[in-house]
Amino acid sequence: PSDSDFQGKKLYNYQGCWYQYKTLRAVLHFKRNFKPLDTDIIVASYPKSGTTWLKALTVALLERSKDGPLSHPLTSDNPYGLVQSAIGLVPFFELNLYLKSSTPDLTKLSSSPRLFSTHMPLHTLRDPLKDSPCKIVYVCRNVKDVLVSRWYFYSRIENKEAGRSILESMFESYCRGVNYYGPFWDNVLSYRRGSLEDPKHVLFMTYEDLKARPREQIMRLAEFLGCPITQEEIHSGAVKEILELCSLHNLSNLDVNKTGKAWDNLDHNVYFRKGEVDDWKNHFTSEMEEKIDMIINEKFQGSGLKI
Ligand code: A3P
Repeated sequence: PSDSDFQGKKLYNYQGCWYQYKTLRAVLHFKRNFKPLDTDIIVASYPKSGTTWLKALTVALLERSKDGPLSHPLTSDNPYGLVQSAIGLVPFFELNLYLKSSTPDLTKLSSSPRLFSTHMPLHTLRDPLKDSPCKIVYVCRNVKDVLVSRWYFYSRIENKEAGRSILESMFESYCRGVNYYGPFWDNVLSYRRGSLEDPKHVLFMTYEDLKARPREQIMRLAEFLGCPITQEEIHSGAVKEILELCSLHNLSNLDVNKTGKAWDNLDHNVYFRKGEVDDWKNHFTSEMEEKIDMIINEKFQGSGLKI
């Protein structure tokens, strides 16, 4: 493998970020052709950081005042917006919309406001947004859990056993920063800076906070999205309802998952596994922990972020 390969796939660097060729082409189409609306909401993340969960929470919060739970869109459509599948509730710019067409018809989107997602770093995403007041929500996760999640995901999509050698070679790629959308730290730091500079338009969340303090975090998200949770809703159990609707158990058992495929022959359930914090402890050696912690500590220095 060359320096720009990740698991046998050639990657291309654009604005400091590594992409597969077809993804990069879609990024360029997006940059050239996307016209934002002031009300757009974009869910951003580094892959395997909890994107699906954040998409579901965003949909649930925005839709909660429109319908009762039975007709909630999450019960009839999925939040994923996967490659080559039905468009989903929160489609990816570069893995879905602009992958299929250089000028996709965005009038067909079902959500209002329009919801999108992306894994691009903020500086690339921001280009076509210019001065748009649209909102961007980012979820960050411990890189060690991201890597373990990616390892299992890769094994599932490639139909291979999740062997140590795959984990070890992925680990080296992550440490070098050469992997899909890598380097991890540049992606995280672009949104971290954006959220500090422009907190009205960029919200920085973490998977770990969502797990540890879900009520507090979804209230924060609702406030940012401009649909704050009222005292009445707190007392009526609405927050609990949203959390349950978006739980890993509920999302992975949606009826819509039982029909259709994520892509190729894969079930939608490829997006759900354990959903835990610190699963890396079951897989990393102390050498791996030490090496990646050293890199992240150095990269995150001065950002206020901890591992
Ligand atoms: P694990 O592989 O560690 O279980 P993404 O959506 O960015 O691809 O991230 C996938 C990770 O988020 C997987 O992590 C998956 O299990 C977890 N996940 C998906 N839905 C979730 C939910 N509703 N709550 C918590 N974690 C969730």
